[in-house]
Amino acid sequence: MAPRTRTSGPSTARQGPASSSDGGGPTVIALANQKGGVAKTTSVASIGAALAELGQRVLLVDLDPQACLTFSLGVDPDTVERSIHDVLTGSAELGDVVVTCEEGVDLVPSAIDLAGAEAMLLPRPGREYVLRSALEGADTAYDVVLLDCSPSLGVLTLNALTAADALIIPMPCEMLSHRGVGQLLDTVADVQKILNRDLEVWGILPTLFDGRSNHAREVLADVGERYDLPVLEPPIPKTVRFAEAPAVGRSILATARTSKGAQAYRDVATALLARL
Ligand SMILES: Nc1ncnc2c1ncn2[C@@H]1O[C@H](COP(=O)(O)OP(=O)(O)OP(=O)(O)O)[C@@H](O)[C@H]1O
Ligand SMILES: [Mg+2]
Repeated sequence: MAPRTRTSGPSTARQGPASSSDGGGPTVIALANQKGGVAKTTSVASIGAALAELGQRVLLVDLDPQACLTFSLGVDPDTVERSIHDVLTGSAELGDVVVTCEEGVDLVPSAIDLAGAEAMLLPRPGREYVLRSALEGADTAYDVVLLDCSPSLGVLTLNALTAADALIIPMPCEMLSHRGVGQLLDTVADVQKILNRDLEVWGILPTLFDGRSNHAREVLADVGERYDLPVLEPPIPKTVRFAEAPAVGRSILATARTSKGAQAYRDVATALLARL
């Protein structure tokens, strides 16, 4: 059983069932949406950094061959010796691949060769369970594991949904951002039936939110009802400060500590802490 190192109480407890990982091991949370550019990677880096600030032992896993999470945490994907690819193809243990980042989080980096892992996994029996069993080795070292998915519903995302206790769906507050969410939820329902009965959908995380726009406010007001899902709070504001952070290999929590964006992610992390 993994000891917990909470430093702050559940002041903003959220509705919904408790994590299925209660009773031991890290809580594994996938951030997935097959739509590109919805702030999956930004949210993983920022929530991860915020949970580390709250005293949690955090592992981030980059499951995207684009390796944006790896890059944005200051690790060069072109020079990493071993990556998640080696874990998924069985040539390394998860612990051999972990890098510690300045953000106070550990990272399982990605590299471009991950694109080939998908093809290698396809003919393997139990291909959706490979990440889940790899994470079992990290059971006692972390309180929370965040999985950054690629913008697809392929084998890598299925591995994430199979390994996860919970799913968070980052979604910008714009009409077109809805496209594909139904398909994602259908996939989740299939995963719950066949691969991972314990997967819980914790809700939609509204991202890139422009509070001055009526349209954004309307979408925010409607989105929870439309999909019958909780909407995590607060929405993450759209601000240029997010564009600056990856270039220096840190999250917005370090590059713009007191910005509204950083504070919003801290508030989301505090709410999530109550459910870990
Ligand atoms: N709140 C925000 N305000 C302004 N820009 C943001 C915000 N969140 C993210 N961005 C920017 O939006 C772009 C897409 O973000 P990000 O890479 O996190 O999305 P993603 O869903 O991971 O994309 P992909 O599907 O390609 O993996 C990035 O340039 C990022 O800096
Ligand atoms: Mg991404």
